[in-house]
Amino acid sequence: MKPSIPELIREAIKASSFSQAKYSNFPVGVALLSNNGKLFSGSNVESSSYGLSICAERVALVKALSEGVTDFETIVIFAKKAEFCPPCGACRQLLYDYCPNITVILTNGDKYISFKLAELLPHAFEDSKLKR
Ligand code: THU
Repeated sequence: MKPSIPELIREAIKASSFSQAKYSNFPVGVALLSNNGKLFSGSNVESSSYGLSICAERVALVKALSEGVTDFETIVIFAKKAEFCPPCGACRQLLYDYCPNITVILTNGDKYISFKLAELLPHAFEDSKLKR
């Protein structure tokens, strides 16, 4: 059975506890659900060379893709220190490249709001634009 939204929220909160965010002190946790019901977690991992840091969303997505899972239905994003933590532009683009129809849920643990990714990245660049 597929996890419910409250279960996904609990997974995202748990994932944030593994965040490596000693430079920003802004832990983020993600739960990414594939179409076949597999769950991937992610947390942000920061570097002393700040620009090398990677967001929780891309950690979860790359974990899944590198294990051969390529179809996704929902991503839940939790940040301890924000009411809602919308994904950054880089994460929106990468998510769009791999799962343009995904539902994006932002939560503070108590309540959540839900978007379709296309609402967060209108007029997206996509691979079809590479073909002329
Ligand atoms: N961060 C994420 O992991 N996801 C987001 O949606 C926004 C920002 C991370 C990147 C960095 O480690 C910290 O939060 C502060 O920007």
